[in-house]
Amino acid sequence: MPTVAVYPGSFDPLTNGHVDIITRGARLFDRIIVSILINAEKSPLFTMTERVEIAQSVFRDHANVEVDTFDGLLVDYVERRKAQVIVRGLRAVSDFESEFQMALMNQRLNGTIETVFMMPAERYTYISSRLIKEVFSLGGRVHGLVPDMVEDRLRQKLARRRHQESGLA
Ligand code: PNS
Repeated sequence: MPTVAVYPGSFDPLTNGHVDIITRGARLFDRIIVSILINAEKSPLFTMTERVEIAQSVFRDHANVEVDTFDGLLVDYVERRKAQVIVRGLRAVSDFESEFQMALMNQRLNGTIETVFMMPAERYTYISSRLIKEVFSLGGRVHGLVPDMVEDRLRQKLARRRHQESGLA
């Protein structure tokens, strides 16, 4: 039976840390489904359509990487998709506590699904979607930390926002 993994998250936006984990997961499992949570945040920077487009474009040459969206309980979604594994990335000890809680809660909800933690390459261990958004919106460079497509779209969003603000002034 093929081993199918679900890699869930908000991906607002996809970072090179996520890309690294997905690439590693695609080598380890028969199939990995990048599963984007619908309505994770009330006001995400990237729409769901954009987040799906970005992940699909980055992994267009990976036949065993699929991009999907989900809502509701993660374990129910994993079961619906006939997957056996939840993949989560661990960057630092600070991630551990909440990830540990989530993994144990998911284990309690469905004891047949395993959470597998994977470490990204060391150079990505300090990256988070939240930091990327903050640094970029304040004019900092994020080149090399996110896929080029994300960088382009961030630039477009910032330009649009500046244009709107100049219109209001
Ligand atoms: O990218 P994130 O925000 O760290 O991802 C968190 C995510 C999507 C994995 C988590 O919020 C989740 O699984 N949400 C679905 C609802 C659910 O099952 N909650 C209970 C988890 S113990």
